[in-house]
Amino acid sequence: MKISSFLYFAGFGLKTILFRKQDPILGTVIVTDRCNLHCRHCSVNNITGIVHPYTQIRGEMQKLYDLGVRILFFCGGETFLWKDGDRTIRDLVKEARQMGFLIVNVVTNGTFPIDLPEADLILLSVDGDRERHNRIRGDTYDTIMENVRNATARNICFYMAINQINKEAVSEVCRTARDMPNVRAVSFNFHTPYPDTGELALTREEKAACCAEITRMMKLGVPVFNLKSAFPYLIDNRFPTPCRQCVVIENGKLSVCGRCIDVPGLCERCGYFFVAEYTLLFRGRPKILLEMLRTYLKYI
Ligand SMILES: C[S@@+](CC[C@H](N)C(=O)[O-])C[C@H]1O[C@@H](n2cnc3c(N)ncnc32)[C@H](O)[C@@H]1O
Ligand code: SF4
Ligand code: SF4
Repeated sequence: MKISSFLYFAGFGLKTILFRKQDPILGTVIVTDRCNLHCRHCSVNNITGIVHPYTQIRGEMQKLYDLGVRILFFCGGETFLWKDGDRTIRDLVKEARQMGFLIVNVVTNGTFPIDLPEADLILLSVDGDRERHNRIRGDTYDTIMENVRNATARNICFYMAINQINKEAVSEVCRTARDMPNVRAVSFNFHTPYPDTGELALTREEKAACCAEITRMMKLGVPVFNLKSAFPYLIDNRFPTPCRQCVVIENGKLSVCGRCIDVPGLCERCGYFFVAEYTLLFRGRPKILLEMLRTYLKYI
């Protein structure tokens, strides 16, 4: 991370903590909900099937920038399906950089060739060893690993949503991340139980076991892009929700935190690690602050 970006974030953090401000810093643009997969745990794919046009996405990026967002995520649906004429997701990333976003990340299922060196991180979903991943995501594991091997930059971060199907595969994903040259880190979430996927949610004990396993992997030198000090809060779902410093925009609709904000009762069962990490950070928890500094400087 550039020193100027670091200073910007430090200033934002100080203002937010000292004056209890609620301005956003992290924003997500949903470029489409169209997807080539139908994963078992996912409730947000192919609802409209619309690929939003460039002018609309450009306007949404500008809106987030004007609100103060400086960490931008592109998400879907499948982001690599996004196209408008000759423009692709790569053009959106380049444009976001030119607009002044300080960190630009893309979330993808990794089933398309990966040529996105301008992104800070490509969060690429890997949901287990081959067998468990394929049970959740269809027969895609080998294609994804081939795409990772052939990627044009070392900016990939595996992204695993831990649920009832893959809860035993945490260490396998960690080892794969550690051993692949193009992979910089691995990051986790717990399953967030939308009404149609409640059966995949983990119990408190299962979450504790996963966090213990992730901690063990960290001690063995696996690059984990998460904060260990947030684990106790995630296990018990006792972090504040929603995240006021995070926003998402989908088809013109701006929501605080996630597009799931309107699902009744979901925030109390939220499994997204970033929500715990950011809300605790902005409550001024010193352990979180120090660990976040170390982690972000290491991986971005
Ligand atoms: C909705 S997908 C969109 C981007 C891309 N299609 C992908 O699969 O990475 C973004 C991330 O959300 C995760 N996800 C989907 N449903 C989830 C849920 N109910 N709880 C936690 N993570 C979930 C996916 O596994 C993926 O890592
Ligand atoms: S690839 Fe991503 S958007 Fe598509 S179904 Fe799977 S999790 Fe959902
Ligand atoms: S806190 Fe609520 S809105 Fe935010 S990601 Fe979790 S479930 Fe979604």
